[in-house]
Amino acid sequence: MKLLHVVGARPNFPKLAPVYRAGTLAGVQQVIVHTGQHYDEIMSDGFFASLGIPAPEHNLMVGSASHAVQTARIMERIEPVLLAEQPDWLVVYGDVNSTVAAALVAAKLGVRIAHVEAGLRSNDRSMPEEINRIVTDRLADLLLTPSLDANVTLRSEGVPDSQVVFVGNVMVDSLRFTLERERITPDAKGEWPNDGSVLVTLHRPSNVDDAERLSAVITALREVAMERRVVFPAHPRTRQKLTEFGIETGAIEMQNPLAYEAMLRLMTHAHVVITDSGGVQEETTALGIPCLTLRANTERPITVTEGTNRLVASPGELSSLVKSSQRNAAHRIPDGWDGRAGERVIVALQETLARLP
Ligand code: UD1
Repeated sequence: MKLLHVVGARPNFPKLAPVYRAGTLAGVQQVIVHTGQHYDEIMSDGFFASLGIPAPEHNLMVGSASHAVQTARIMERIEPVLLAEQPDWLVVYGDVNSTVAAALVAAKLGVRIAHVEAGLRSNDRSMPEEINRIVTDRLADLLLTPSLDANVTLRSEGVPDSQVVFVGNVMVDSLRFTLERERITPDAKGEWPNDGSVLVTLHRPSNVDDAERLSAVITALREVAMERRVVFPAHPRTRQKLTEFGIETGAIEMQNPLAYEAMLRLMTHAHVVITDSGGVQEETTALGIPCLTLRANTERPITVTEGTNRLVASPGELSSLVKSSQRNAAHRIPDGWDGRAGERVIVALQETLARLP
């Protein structure tokens, strides 16, 4: 079996790593294509190094652009790669532009598509990621789901059960792998040491592209920073917007984006995490750290119903919610978030390939 993995943006890399590792152990032939959607050292190559992913065989170097231009560039540049490599499966991850662009090209070339992290829906089409999720799932031949609610969603959309396999959450594989390697461990009672800090990550257009909204968010975080250490490793997009709108961050500890292991270290020690990232909602649930998600909806409702996540629509609520957030409140780790999802992805790919004509 030959796999061609396509990744492009930061959240793709922790999803690829465990699948790639399991593929190597199973003797599968694998090729990595990096679209170049993210290109800064700390947003891209640093993650490959941290996660032990080998350098990609192909880098399409598409860089930043409007959604249409970025998607079109990826499509144009990936077509000859797919034709030359002739994989048994194209494997795409998550919901970024690289995911949908690669899937569209493969579908028209008749290359089988497997989507890792299928079936998640925010039901909010103003998010570019929601469009990417819907289109990728429509095109995929094999839909690999991270949680059982995603299977229910796909069935309700009419996807045949034979195309859907529940594999669990590959992000949790990378989380566990890295905690172990970095020796980041809980205390004797099995609890993470709480240093009282608040870790913040925000980059969604809905929070950072509008001056009024971003200003309200920063005002709320500055209020929290009067009482606690607030650490905010800012995505380049967020940085640019803060500068463009001339918003002062006061006592908030602004940092550059962090390496994966540095981020996990801060997360395990935080009193609470404030985010709009999908991956961080999952990581905090897997760790049992309280998470306040500054969004009106989430494509990962299981982190709310079973985990430690809470949706916060208005930044004005943040300060009091940080105060009332409790470590070690009751929560469950969802099924399949056990560190073995990468292996199940490889098995599903092998078994499905074997039964196809
Ligand atoms: C992308 C994904 C989003 C994901 C996020 C994680 C899509 C539609 N969006 O959003 O789902 O949560 O990645 O980071 O695919 N930039 C740099 N260096 C880089 C990359 C980007 O400076 O390495 C700057 C550029 O100015 C760029 C901006 O960040 O215009 C936004 O980058 P882009 O890839 O368009 O979207 P993200 O906001 O990163």
